[in-house]
Amino acid sequence: MVDVILGLQWGDEGKGKIVDFFAKEYDVVARFQGGPNAGHTLYVNDKKVVLHQIPSGVFHAGIVNLIGNGVVLDPVTLKRECDTVASFGIDLKKNLFIAERTHLILPTHRALDKAAELSKGNQKIGSTLKGIGPTYMDKTGRNGLRVGDLLDKNFTTQYIKLRLKHQRLLDNYNFQEDITAWEEEFFEALEFLKELNIVNGEYFINNQIKAGKRVLAEGAQGSMLDIDFGTFPYVTSSNTISAGVCSGLGIAPQQIRDVIGVTKAYCTRVGGGPFPTELENETGEELRKIGNEFGATTGRPRRCGWIDLVALNFACMINGVTKIVMTKADVLDAFKELEVCTAYKINGKESQEIPFQMDRQKPEPVYKGFTGWNIVTSAAKTFAELPDTMKTYVSFINKYLGVDIHYISNGPGRDQIIQVK
Ligand code: GDP
Ligand code: IMO
Ligand code: MG
Repeated sequence: MVDVILGLQWGDEGKGKIVDFFAKEYDVVARFQGGPNAGHTLYVNDKKVVLHQIPSGVFHAGIVNLIGNGVVLDPVTLKRECDTVASFGIDLKKNLFIAERTHLILPTHRALDKAAELSKGNQKIGSTLKGIGPTYMDKTGRNGLRVGDLLDKNFTTQYIKLRLKHQRLLDNYNFQEDITAWEEEFFEALEFLKELNIVNGEYFINNQIKAGKRVLAEGAQGSMLDIDFGTFPYVTSSNTISAGVCSGLGIAPQQIRDVIGVTKAYCTRVGGGPFPTELENETGEELRKIGNEFGATTGRPRRCGWIDLVALNFACMINGVTKIVMTKADVLDAFKELEVCTAYKINGKESQEIPFQMDRQKPEPVYKGFTGWNIVTSAAKTFAELPDTMKTYVSFINKYLGVDIHYISNGPGRDQIIQVK
């Protein structure tokens, strides 16, 4: 049995906290896509930790964590992350496993990411510059190097061949930066990676499932950043949606039970691209300030706006969402009035569908207004304690989406979460 937790917006919905919260109900937590572009924030013993590639179940004793084949892995970031996690007394030799089919992010992939972004000028994607796009390009272009290749005696030869190809591309971009230091840390980190548990991910996970173990698949980014269904080209380079779980771990679709979608009570986006409900005004500023909306990976300020039910409805459809978790409800505490986007206006016509090319069709949001609760809810422990105005907000969203909100997160802390049903 496999359940999935994934983001329904443009990332940073609070997936890390929610995976950490649910992890105790599972035996295995597995990442199925993305790489160090992700930043998943957890609080362990009241200490903030940001995980980039290691699954968010890692702080629970007895849970096995798998980095699946669908991930692109940067050994340098991984080594750093492993050091942080180990400082909490976690033995990664026991509870972290890496699929041998996982593609490696090379220093030249990071350089290519940077060069490609620079060349795009004001049409840049706003990539995290972690080398994600170029690494997935080498995967689909059938050139990439995988974790399993590390154990092959020809690894260095393969590396040099690919590096040469990258150098030619970098020369085309006229990229001049010296990446020798990046390469040094890369080779050092590879030695570290070799000592970790490298496994055949697909047999590993299917054997766990066969043995009756409960698996939680952890998504990175969000549905609107999906390579196929997101706001292309302003997306990431992987399938962030539930379909990505099968190809990113090697499991069959029948194994998937719940798809738990995480959404903020409002909406944010970091990087370029369309964002119909964005508030480029004081209200947006306030959301950013109260919600502390700064990227966990890059520190960039996140763009903020009201919740977008058209986009959420689309994400529920594409993912087959069975349960919703709403995070950061406490951030709305300070607002006297709230808005919810219930339709898009495109060329004067109302629609409830995501258009083909949002950045060209420029949908205008149609809003329904709600009275804010305007009291502090972050100390509430039960649904009954929540104000009626918040219950009205939640029940409207439930009805619109046809999927229920099962939990409301009302603070970043591990215990700040309320069961709705
Ligand atoms: P992820 O990438 O989806 O895991 O999300 P991030 O960690 O990038 O961003 C979510 C941010 O919101 C983090 O700083 C969390 O600590 C914080 N957070 C998560 N849930 C809540 C919540 O319910 N309320 C508040 N105020 N902060 C939250
Ligand atoms: P988590 O898992 C928010 C965004 C980048 C950029 C676009 C492409 O923490 O929710 P990439 O580096 O993937 O080529 O960047 O996607 N992006 C994210 N935004 N949260 C993330 O991850 C993101 N990962 C990538 O800002 O707009
Ligand atoms: Mg994040």
